[in-house]
Amino acid sequence: MDTCHDRTRFHVVKVIVLAMVFLLAAIASATSQTVKKPQNHKKIVGPNACAECHKETTEIWKKTHHATTFKKMPRSKEARKIANKMKIKRIKSESLCLTCHFTTQIKRKKKKPIAGISCESCHSAGKDWEKVHSEFSGKTEKTESKAEEAKRWKKSEKLGMIRPSAIYKLAKNCYSCHVVPQEKLVNIGGHPAGSAFELVSWSQGEVRHNVWYSKGKTNKQAGAGRKRILYITGLAVELETALRSVAVATKSKVYAFRMARRADAARKKMKKVAAALPKTGEVAKIVELGYSAGLKLNNKKALLTAAKGIASTSLALIAKYDGSTFGAVDPLIPNESKYKGKPPK
Ligand code: HEC
Ligand code: HEC
Ligand code: HEC
Ligand code: HEC
Repeated sequence: MDTCHDRTRFHVVKVIVLAMVFLLAAIASATSQTVKKPQNHKKIVGPNACAECHKETTEIWKKTHHATTFKKMPRSKEARKIANKMKIKRIKSESLCLTCHFTTQIKRKKKKPIAGISCESCHSAGKDWEKVHSEFSGKTEKTESKAEEAKRWKKSEKLGMIRPSAIYKLAKNCYSCHVVPQEKLVNIGGHPAGSAFELVSWSQGEVRHNVWYSKGKTNKQAGAGRKRILYITGLAVELETALRSVAVATKSKVYAFRMARRADAARKKMKKVAAALPKTGEVAKIVELGYSAGLKLNNKKALLTAAKGIASTSLALIAKYDGSTFGAVDPLIPNESKYKGKPPK
């Protein structure tokens, strides 16, 4: 009797454990957006289509590394070295390289690189929203009502457009390329594990193209409040991305070390932000989450849980604050001398 009872109980426990394993695996795959999702090639209209209206912006973009990499990268010796180690023949048809280095379109059923990193790499593939965002609800700039305008932007965002106001999404986009969560590409290919990226200094230099609303007259930097939010969001996304990147590490090699160091540096910087803003609970929470998971191999579950928490907390932070009361972080934000390059005007 007793043994039989024990056996049933053992069986029940086994079923529960199995169910939990499956559930955890499902959660892990749903939340681990570590590897960059390829662009929706079918919905790419290409920078020339945007240039029809955004002329000045396109002129600025053409001078950035994002544009020039299209011709330069595949021809560089460094690229050949990486490709050889990865046993890749044609860099321009290898989707691993295409996702971060190029904009691709489907042409005659084939994926074709048409530009470097372009408008839609950051603002998202335009086919569905391009028309909607620009047509003033079928009226003109002067006759469209405020309510219609609000509806137009809402619709554009629903169709995928990433507007400058969507700071978290923008930052996620930058980091999806500027941190490289491909262990083999780093350990075997010798590709950099990512850039020494920081959102304010990297977005306000050569990349800056705030020329649309000034009709090309000025290219002003983001305002003080926005810069503070850019800085904090950038750090939060950096930490989130680094934790996700540690989570997928399998070998005690250079990839794992770089990502762990990256996560550690980001949480230390976030600690400084928390010290500057002692009353902002969201920042304290991000720090706490950042230290909640050990930066080691085989710790996927804890690392992804922390990353997910950081994502939702940063979204809450951005929704609540515009940065106007965050002056205490100004000394932490890189100043103009640290910006990456200069825009042409
Ligand atoms: C037919 C002209 C036209 C084309 C083509 C066009 N845009 Fe625009 N775009 C506009 C107009 C007009 C506005 C400003 C709308 C307003 O003032 O409310 C705008 C605004 C924007 C903004 C600022 C949004 C904001 O939140 O203020 C972004 C970003 C943008 N466009 C990106 C793009 C990208 C990327 C493409 C190509 C995929 C593109 N646009 C193609 C006309 C166009
Ligand atoms: C996850 C995104 C990502 C992937 C995938 C990726 N790269 Fe990169 N790559 C980058 C980033 C970001 C940089 C810039 C790093 C820096 O700031 O120094 C870079 C830099 C480079 C450089 C040195 C700078 C240059 O552009 O000449 C080469 C060469 C290069 N990548 C080649 C490749 C090749 C070949 C592949 C495919 C096997 C590849 N990359 C895949 C993101 C990526
Ligand atoms: C590397 C990512 C990236 C690329 C590439 C990019 N943008 Fe942007 N765009 C941004 C960011 C970030 C902002 C907000 C900048 C800020 O707050 O200083 C922005 C702002 C804008 C604005 C608002 C400008 C204003 O006057 O306020 C427009 C319009 C725009 N982008 C259109 C484009 C077009 C068109 C292209 C291609 C020619 C393009 N962007 C390429 C990231 C990008
Ligand atoms: C689709 C991938 C991708 C996205 C998205 C992206 N970048 Fe890049 N970025 C790259 C690659 C790859 C390079 C290296 C290009 C080269 O030099 O060959 C680069 C280079 C740069 C550079 C020049 C760095 C230097 O060495 O001088 C700056 C600045 C930069 N990115 C800022 C940004 C910002 C800010 C964002 C987000 C608003 C962003 N990037 C989004 C892939 C990307």
